[in-house]
Amino acid sequence: MPIEWDAATREIHLHNGRVSHVMRVLDNGWLGNLHFGRPLAPGRSYAHLGPAAFTGFSNRPADPVALEYPVTGSGDYRVPAIVVEQPDGSTLLDLVYVGHRIAAGKPAPDALPSTYVEDPAEADTIEIDLADGPSGLRATLAYTIFRDLPVVARSVRLRNDGTAALRVRTAMSASLDLPDAEWILVQLSGAWARERHVVERRLTPGRASVSSERGASSAQHNPFIVLRRPATTEEAGEACGLGLVYSGDFLAEVEVDSFGTTRARMGIDPTHFAWTLEPGGELVLPEAVLAWSDEGLGALSDAYHLLFRERLARGKWRDTLRPVLVNNWEGTYFDFTADRLVAMAEVAAGLGIELFVLDDGWFGLRDDDDSSLGDWHVDRRKLPGGLEDVGRRIEALGMRFGLWVEPEMVSRRSRLFEAHPDWALGIPGRPRTEQRRQLVLDMSRPEVVDHLHAVLSEVFASAPISYVKWDMNRYMTEAYSTALPADRQGELRHRYILGVYDLHARLTAAFPGILFESCASGGGRFDPGMLAFAPQGWTSDDTDAIERLRIQWGTSYAYPLSSMGAHVSAVPNHQVGRVTPLATRAAVAFFGVFGYELDTTALTEQERREVAAQVAFYKRHRDVLQRGRFVRLRSPFEGDGTETAWMAVSDDRRRAVVGAYRVLDRPYDGPSRLRLRGLDPALAYRVSPWPDGGDAVDRANARVRGGDDLMAAGLTLRVGPFDPVARADYGARIFALEAVEEA
Ligand code: DGJ
Repeated sequence: MPIEWDAATREIHLHNGRVSHVMRVLDNGWLGNLHFGRPLAPGRSYAHLGPAAFTGFSNRPADPVALEYPVTGSGDYRVPAIVVEQPDGSTLLDLVYVGHRIAAGKPAPDALPSTYVEDPAEADTIEIDLADGPSGLRATLAYTIFRDLPVVARSVRLRNDGTAALRVRTAMSASLDLPDAEWILVQLSGAWARERHVVERRLTPGRASVSSERGASSAQHNPFIVLRRPATTEEAGEACGLGLVYSGDFLAEVEVDSFGTTRARMGIDPTHFAWTLEPGGELVLPEAVLAWSDEGLGALSDAYHLLFRERLARGKWRDTLRPVLVNNWEGTYFDFTADRLVAMAEVAAGLGIELFVLDDGWFGLRDDDDSSLGDWHVDRRKLPGGLEDVGRRIEALGMRFGLWVEPEMVSRRSRLFEAHPDWALGIPGRPRTEQRRQLVLDMSRPEVVDHLHAVLSEVFASAPISYVKWDMNRYMTEAYSTALPADRQGELRHRYILGVYDLHARLTAAFPGILFESCASGGGRFDPGMLAFAPQGWTSDDTDAIERLRIQWGTSYAYPLSSMGAHVSAVPNHQVGRVTPLATRAAVAFFGVFGYELDTTALTEQERREVAAQVAFYKRHRDVLQRGRFVRLRSPFEGDGTETAWMAVSDDRRRAVVGAYRVLDRPYDGPSRLRLRGLDPALAYRVSPWPDGGDAVDRANARVRGGDDLMAAGLTLRVGPFDPVARADYGARIFALEAVEEA
């Protein structure tokens, strides 16, 4: 059994040979943490790793005792996991062990997305009850260890077993105490159009945090952090990941105390949070997914990729290869007619593209972003035959049809807002801040969710819709609900996210054939919570190939290739004005769910030939590029950032695709080689440069080579200082590798 309970020492050990999590019920009943990380042998006691003695106080353990769910107010001065206000105004808790249950499998928390198992043999779960006598608060901590992954998923259920209401002011999903502070905090931070850049800082005494108070996980920070050792690389060294399966306000915080220990905590951001638990009431907190690697950041990402792709994403599209799409947004913006769309689709179909996505502007009177959100009925001026007609005409071309919606919003100029001004978030008596002239619907109100469910169901059933892009284009301001009493406003943001999840759950259940892609002005809500409903997300509004190198590299720390929408767009690029070769744009977008975001009718004959070849290449290698193991080779965040390289390898290691990129050329540069990873050293691979230009670099590489040779010596990227073909900025090279029998 991968979860052991030793009644004599009162120790709990979760182990699977890849990670160990050891806890112990301390003498005073608190749940102590003895170890998280490198696998330890089962069947032994680790009690010696617990608190040696009381520190400072004569009757209570305090700093720096390692705890699983620390409280505040009784001598532990580090950041707490939980703060609960009681009827007398006090916030002290004394959470002591009451009992536990161990079972195969993993129970599903209601209302919240989470990782899951399909067979109880895939994981084991322990639920540990802690209770505070005076208040009646019960905290049930659940830990699931997956049998084949270095992962422990944690969740918490709070219950009021007392007789008076309790006000939960802080409630983390996980708290983790580590015995030293030799860590670097890695976060995925940025902004609109430059999401999830890798940012690192060395831990020092005090607190370091990333968070969102925007009502969505945000483009600014991601609910995913890593603690890595200073010496950890992609290939070697210790790293510990914490990810939150949640799409709203979050906090990820790390504190180093005066004794040099580290406490990490992750959960709903407490700034605007307060939840009243009436007697008998329950609150389930979002799931935190902790992973461990002592084989570097690459292996840590492998664990998250596998878990998120196979046991967080769900439905038909989890296991189905995703279509190559073209989206009309950058091609037309709001200016289109049915005939123009069909003309674009006609060209796209001829190039091998499989799905045509109609973006913003098909509904209400939406000629710009000023109006109509909420009025989800087709604009007959643009589409006289409705969605059904345009959908059928596109299907007649042999393509599928997809549609954009932004359910959670309402334009001030809309029939919906006229009818229900109170359905938008806002504080009575104060102006509402507008962005794109739009307001945020109050998704905490069941009637709003019911209304959206009804109107969107009608839209989705009205035409042959195979794909839906679910956008969300502004963060919350004046986050206040007139439907909630004054003392419940602290529940609004979490209730909003529960409403979003409820709508997603109902629509994905009703339309199981639809592929959902999440979006929030690009990657403004690209998080594990959304992944449970939409197996792919629009990674960023920034489609520039060079900017995408950093965005896709950072995103890949946690998220699999199958989750990252990546499109080729026109030049000059609409976000940064950069002009990059069409081949480079495709070479970057290949590593994700590939598509186009341009007016196909504007492509020249030569460009059409190139696009057709790109689509054919992607389809040939789609299984590797969507489901293969992603290996990061050269970081755009290191050195002068001019070189990036990565590859995807099939599970059986017989096929791979390598991408190598050079942002700026460097004069009189020497020969250069790229060492690969993840291949089978015993196999021979045919290396096919793509497209094969037959230049000196291609000639140097186009041959059969051993996996050992490719990993030890590497592919040639530049033959020498006067290599004529390498002399260009924004260059990219793609190589396809296939195992062959040696003669
Ligand atoms: C923001 C998205 O990220 C874009 O791709 C596009 O769908 C626009 N919204 C439409 O308003």
